[in-house]
Amino acid sequence: MTSPRTTLSLVDTDPAELAVDAIVIGVHSQTTEPGNGAPAHALLLASGGESIAAAFDGKLTETLALLGATGGPGEVIKLATLGTVSAPLVVAVGLGPEPAGAAPAPESLRRAAGAAVRALAGAPRVALALPLPDDADAPAALRAVAEGALLGGYRFAGYKTKPQPARREPVAEVLVAVPDAADATAQAEIARAQAVAGAVRTSRDWVNTAPNELRPPAFADAVSAAAREAGLEVEVLDEAALKAGGYGGILAVGQGSEAPPRLVKLTWTPEGGGNGKRVALVGKGITFDTGGISIKPAQGMWEMKSDMAGAAAVGAAMLAVAALKPSVTVTGYLPMAENMPSGTSYRPGDVISMFNGKKVEVLNTDAEGRMVLADAMARACADGADYLFETSTLTGGQVIALGKRIAGVMGTPELCERVRVAGDATGEPAWPMPLPDDVRKGMESDVADISQVNAGMDRAGHMLQGGVFLREFVTDDVAWAHIDIAGPGYHSGEATGYLTKGGTGVPVRTLVHLVEDVATNG
Ligand code: BES
Ligand code: MN
Ligand code: ZN
Repeated sequence: MTSPRTTLSLVDTDPAELAVDAIVIGVHSQTTEPGNGAPAHALLLASGGESIAAAFDGKLTETLALLGATGGPGEVIKLATLGTVSAPLVVAVGLGPEPAGAAPAPESLRRAAGAAVRALAGAPRVALALPLPDDADAPAALRAVAEGALLGGYRFAGYKTKPQPARREPVAEVLVAVPDAADATAQAEIARAQAVAGAVRTSRDWVNTAPNELRPPAFADAVSAAAREAGLEVEVLDEAALKAGGYGGILAVGQGSEAPPRLVKLTWTPEGGGNGKRVALVGKGITFDTGGISIKPAQGMWEMKSDMAGAAAVGAAMLAVAALKPSVTVTGYLPMAENMPSGTSYRPGDVISMFNGKKVEVLNTDAEGRMVLADAMARACADGADYLFETSTLTGGQVIALGKRIAGVMGTPELCERVRVAGDATGEPAWPMPLPDDVRKGMESDVADISQVNAGMDRAGHMLQGGVFLREFVTDDVAWAHIDIAGPGYHSGEATGYLTKGGTGVPVRTLVHLVEDVATNG
C-alpha cells in the first residue's frame, strides 16, 4: 500500500511572480516591551516574504493580524491575494518569536513547512518562500524545509472503497524558493531530502498498513521487494532457516501464530568496502502484539499494529542508504513475528535457547520484543558489526519515563551520546538512560542464565530492564545503542507540524544521520 507522493524542486524567481496555487511565507510573533508605543503583540514578516509584502503596499502583516495571525508555531493563516501577486492565495505560517540574530532553528522550519503543506491539501502546486540563512547554516535549513514539506504532505492511502469528495488531495508539487536554484549544494540537499523523506513515508506506510495485511511473510516480502528495487542485497530466513540457525527467541514468539516468523537481512556494500567499518541496524518487527498468553487488555490494542515500527524504520533507512551511498558497510536486520495466543504459543515458564547459546526464562510472553531482538542482535555481532544501532517499540515504561516524543537510549555511553546528537540534529529527540547493576540483579533466574523481565515481575524501571536484557546479546567488542521508540514511533493524536496521524517514521532520520556520521568520522 503506497501513499501518493509529493514532488519537490527549487526555484529562484520572485515569489510574487510564481504561477502556483499558493505561496507560503513565514511570520514571527514579536512580543514587544509594554509602554514603548508599539502594540503588545506585533506580527513580524520573516525573510523570504519581502516581495509579497511589497505587493501588498506594506499592509500585509497588518492584514494577517486582522485575520487573527499571531505568528505562533504551526499557525496557518490564508489570505486571498485578489491579483496583488500571481498566486491566488498567500499563506502565512507561524515560526514563533524571531530568534535574536539568528535564523529559525531547522526544526521550526521543518514544522512550519509541514504545517503549511498539510493545511494546503487540495492545492496541486505550492511554493514555499520561508526564511533561509545565507551562511553555513543554509544547507541544514533547506534540508529541514524540504523534509517538512514532504512529510507534512504525507497521507496514508487507506482502505476506503467509496470516493471521498470532501477529502482534499495532498499537495502534489512543492517549489522551494532559494537565492540560486542552480546551486549544487542546494540541489544536493533536495536530493537528500527526497531520499530521506521518501524513506520516512515508506516506513509510515508499513506502520499504517492493517496488521492482517502485514503478517511476517507479507512484511518480509514487502521489505524485500523494496530493497531489491533499491539495489540492496537481500536475504530472508524463513522458519526452516531460523530453526536450522538456532534462532530460539524469534521462533518462540512466532510459534503462536499461523503466520510464521522471518528474519530479513538487507546489506549495502560501498564500492571498495568504504572506510572498512560495519554498521548494523536492528529493528523490532512484531507485526501485531496481542501480548500472547500474557494477553493485553482490549482497549487500545489496535495500536499494537505499530509494534513493527522499529523494523519499518530500519528497512526504510536501508532504502535511503541505498540512495545516498555512504562509504560504510551497512546491514539491516529485521526480525519479524506475530505475537498471538494459541495452543502453540510460547508460555510463561518456558526456557528458550537463544541464537548466542544463552538460556532465557520467559516470565511474561508480552515481553516478546526483546526475544526476537536478542537473536537478531547476536547475529549482527556474529557477522562482525563494529557499531550496532537497535530500535524498537519495546516498553510502555519508555512512554511513562520520557513521553510520546523523546526516545530512550541505552547502551555504550559514547554511542548513546552520538544518538542523542543525531536526534537533536534531525528533529527526533532521544535521551540517554542508564543500565543499572541492580536492575540486572533483579533479572537473575532460578533456572536459566537470565529471566526475560524482573524475576519478581517488578515493573520498576522496566524500560531499563529491556536495555539490560538486550546487553546480554551484544559482544564486548561491539559499540551498541538501543533506542526505545514506544512513544515516538506512533502518533495517535491529530496531525501537527509534519507529523500525521499514525506511524511517524521515527527514527529513520536519526539512523540515516548516524550511518553518514560513521561513514564520515568512523
Ligand atoms: N510492544 C509493547 C510495548 C509498547 C507499549 C509499545 C505501548 C508501544 C506502546 C511491548 O511488547 C510490551 O508489551 N512491553 C511490556 C513489557 C513488560 C511485559 C515487561 C510493557 O510495556 O508493559
Ligand atoms: Mn508485548
Ligand atoms: Zn511488543
